[in-house]
This record gives sequence, structure tokens and C-alpha cells, in this order.
Amino acid sequence: MEREFLFLKPNTVRRGLVGEVISRLERRGIKIIAMKMINATKEQAERLYKEHEGKPFYNELIEFVLSGPVVVMVLEGPRVVEMVRHIIGNTDPLKASPGSIRGEFGMSVTKNIVHASDSHENAEKEMKIFFSEDEILNYKLDV
Ligand code: CMP
Repeated sequence: MEREFLFLKPNTVRRGLVGEVISRLERRGIKIIAMKMINATKEQAERLYKEHEGKPFYNELIEFVLSGPVVVMVLEGPRVVEMVRHIIGNTDPLKASPGSIRGEFGMSVTKNIVHASDSHENAEKEMKIFFSEDEILNYKLDV
């Protein structure tokens, strides 16, 4: 079974949209196997966005994700990376489909509600920045 890492950005918490995002995932049958609200550390933010270091938007992005509490999650399901990225929509809210999370709630490419890992390999790497294996739970959904 595939796992996906999800990071709800600080404006999602400040705007009271955490439940909205979670509800959209749950309605598609996606299983949450770990979840917590934290103030991310600078080290965690820099590890998460290492591939963007040096890009023009990097400093603004780091500053933004450190601006308040975030919610981090691990999700599980068949083809969950693909499914989550479909539900979330394009990185740029202006290009995201209207029915997607970013298409409905995104304010800008930085304030785009949520980060989701773009591959199975990156999901496994990124969840380890925020979770230890014993925080990731094993249970069955009632269907
Ligand atoms: P996220 O999924 O968090 O992963 C990397 C983030 O970098 C992305 O969403 C955007 O918030 C941000 N990003 C990517 N490209 C740009 C850009 N051209 N300008 C500003 N921010 C960007």
C-alpha cells in the first residue's frame, strides 16, 4: 500500500480550513495514518524544501511556512500520491481546476493551502522529517 505526506500550510490553519481539507480526503476514502499540529522548525522547513533552495521564491516560502502552526499528515491508500495530487490541484491556484482544494481556496502560489509529496519516494523521505515510524498507525477503515 502506498503512503503520501501532506503538509497543511499556516494560512490553512489560520483560515479555519483544516477540517475542509481533511473532509475532502476522507470523502475519497483516503486513510489518515498519522496527523499532528506543530510549529515547524527552520531545519524541518529547509529539509522539506531543499530542492527549491536558491530559487527566487525560496526565502518567502520558508518564512511563510514558519509563520504559524501547520498540520502534517501521513495518508495511505492505493495510488494515494496520484489521488491526493488530483484532489489538491495545480501548484498555482490560478491554474488549478475550480473543484480542487487549491482551485477553491488557494490565494497565491506560495499561499496554496497544502503541500503534498510529488512521488512515492519523496513521500517516504518527507514524512521522516516530521514523523518517527512509531507515530504512524496501523488500522482498518470501516467500509
Ligand atoms: P508546495 O507544494 O509547497 O511545494 C513547493 C512550493 O514552492 C509550492 O508548493 C509553492 O508554494 C512554491 N512555489 C513553487 N513555484 C513557485 C513560484 N514560481 N513562485 C512562488 N512560489 C512557488
